[in-house]
Amino acid sequence: MALAIMCSGGDAAGMNPAIKKFVDYAYKKGEEPYLIYRGLEGLIDGKIVKAEHRDVAGILHRGGTIIQSSRSKRFFEYQFREQAYNNLKKHNISGLIVLGGDGSFRAMDRFSSEFNLNFVGIPSTIDNDINGTEYCLGSDTALNVIRDALDKIRDTASSFNRAFLVEVMGRDCGHLAIVSAMASGAEICVVPEIEFESEALGKRLRKEVENGRHYALAIVAEGTKKTTEIHKWLQETVGLETRVSILGHIQRGGNPTVRDRLMAFDFTITAMNHLLNSTNSNKVVVYRDGEFKLIEIEEVVSTKYKLPKRYLDAINLLD
Ligand code: F6P
Repeated sequence: MALAIMCSGGDAAGMNPAIKKFVDYAYKKGEEPYLIYRGLEGLIDGKIVKAEHRDVAGILHRGGTIIQSSRSKRFFEYQFREQAYNNLKKHNISGLIVLGGDGSFRAMDRFSSEFNLNFVGIPSTIDNDINGTEYCLGSDTALNVIRDALDKIRDTASSFNRAFLVEVMGRDCGHLAIVSAMASGAEICVVPEIEFESEALGKRLRKEVENGRHYALAIVAEGTKKTTEIHKWLQETVGLETRVSILGHIQRGGNPTVRDRLMAFDFTITAMNHLLNSTNSNKVVVYRDGEFKLIEIEEVVSTKYKLPKRYLDAINLLD
């Protein structure tokens, strides 16, 4: 049986360990593994190559993805989806694994409703914002990159009378920001899910400054688009000289953590075992309550991811 794997959307640490496991396990099971290069763009252009063991040797510890990814505008058009499907058929590919985020799964949901596919998605995004799963590949590595940056920023912040505002990624979701704020002991955390209570927070911080607080750390999720506003507020209302650091794409890089390597292993084996025993099923592997399960792709894309309440509550417990 010919099986293929591809990455779509933002790359995430853990993709390479998943690709390696895919190739090694396919050969172990006597199947033919194919790699689709450059995501949906590559699928449209037929960049599909049969994998050898040597293609995936020495990649397990590397961040990013050796087969590259893309965000495809062309895939929104039917004629290109049809071309993509024909390319899969050309290689007799009867099972497809897609490592991607919410947007990629929406695209796959549409694709699978139009063509006869046997498909499994593996949640992969540093934002950790896919409905139905508690974990997405790449988020632990990104959190560790952020933790490292915040530990260093706190060193310099505490050496001056200064606040630091650090903007972290998270297009629509505050997961990276909240978990990072908890792990680094930040005093302020601003996320898209919760209204920024500038008045109450300003009052509290001004009092603390009067009582001797000489520095503070504020984490702001990119998705709030409030970095400039909060910088001004910290300087003018709270009265702390403030520096801004936007961590940007360094959060997407770095060697996958042990957690991401192990999660890649389990996600991939679960996906492949399912593909080898199904013909026309369109599912996503999710991690819930300590178990790996397969759920329908419609269930995943029909609802927006919601942060667990315990994280939202944690914002009020900072400081
Ligand atoms: O992959 C998720 C993510 O890193 C988001 O956190 C961020 O908003 C977005 O991708 C950035 O996308 P791009 O790399 O295309 O600029």
